[in-house]
Amino acid sequence: MSAISNQLSERLSTISVSSTVKVSSEAGRLKREGVDVVDFGAGEPDFPTPDNIKRAAVAALDANFTKYTDTSGIVDLKKAICERHAKDYGTSYTPAECVVTVGGKHVIFELTQVLLNPGDECIIPVPFWVTYQDVVNYAGAKCVFVQSDEQAGFAISAAAIEKAMTPKTKLILINSPSNPSGNVLGREEFERICKLAKSRGVLIMTDECYCRFVYGSEPYSAAAFEGMKETVIVAGSLSKTYAMTGWRIGFGLAPKAVIDGIVKLQSHMTSNPTSIAQKAAVEALNGPQEAVGEMLAEYARRREYIVNRVRQIPGVTCQEPMGAFYIYPNFGQAMKNLGIESTLELATQLLTKAHVALVPGEAFGTDSHVRISYATSMHEIERGLQRIDDFVQGKLSPKP
Ligand SMILES: Cc1ncc(COP(=O)(O)O)c(C=O)c1O
Repeated sequence: MSAISNQLSERLSTISVSSTVKVSSEAGRLKREGVDVVDFGAGEPDFPTPDNIKRAAVAALDANFTKYTDTSGIVDLKKAICERHAKDYGTSYTPAECVVTVGGKHVIFELTQVLLNPGDECIIPVPFWVTYQDVVNYAGAKCVFVQSDEQAGFAISAAAIEKAMTPKTKLILINSPSNPSGNVLGREEFERICKLAKSRGVLIMTDECYCRFVYGSEPYSAAAFEGMKETVIVAGSLSKTYAMTGWRIGFGLAPKAVIDGIVKLQSHMTSNPTSIAQKAAVEALNGPQEAVGEMLAEYARRREYIVNRVRQIPGVTCQEPMGAFYIYPNFGQAMKNLGIESTLELATQLLTKAHVALVPGEAFGTDSHVRISYATSMHEIERGLQRIDDFVQGKLSPKP
């Protein structure tokens, strides 16, 4: 370790590099070496960004829309975000209650830094999206984890959240549909959680990253529940909905005081989200929405196949995900049969021996699962699942 390592801030040591990023970079390294890796690691749509959105960015470039914008985002985009949210979910935000950020991750980071003080407690259902734990730690607050019910599809309940609450509870992070479990929180239960939070003066951040990708139910937003505008804060993203991961556009919808706090932070951080990406986002939200439905239909087809296929692997069980584009199968019995003690070891062996990249469950707070993203082609899903099956059954020929 070089001497400069000792100079790094203590705050930095409260977080670690996202394990989802780690897995994809390791898979990338193998691929560059020419290894034929089936990559289930990345949580990103395999579809291209729709053409109308790309054309809007080109038009913005041609019009020299290439300078700084308002820190909180261009008015057209804030309007488009509020209008789309109103149309889809029946909310009533104004542009003053909206901020555009550099992706959904950015707004989640900013929200936690704006809301949490050292010593505050933040409730996080398990399994959780990796970033939550780190951004809460980075704010100096304490993560309080609440177990979900795997047998009920990783359901979370108001009762479990209530048990975890203390006078120090400041914030509850809800992600529905969930990454990694695919759980979709039922409307009634979410409403109970909101009422509970409101009665205790606690805030809820609802991460709506996968909100449009639900199977067999209608998308909804907790921000539309009656009387919850001061309790519920929306963290949104265009990344998955419009296959725009690289454009980096996210948003927050919240009471003005919270938005102003985010804008203050953002003014020293990024100045503004990229100008031409903002123009593209206006088109994504205001333009035709058919592409979203087409992507959802394809995810639904893959989901059906992958859930059935993974359930055929000995020692593996899998809850049916009701949203997003991940399965979160339980390899507990298979791990025992193979003498594998951790999901990291399982993921490492699957990558090196079966050439399949996926994310170990320990990244999401559980010890016998892996996350498999089905945002990849059917062909890759078939190949990858066969390799996993062969690995679990000891049928793989040794690879160097
Ligand atoms: C649950 C969840 N929230 C938020 C995000 C943020 O997405 P982005 O920063 O690409 O908008 C992700 C990305 O994977 C996610 O899985």
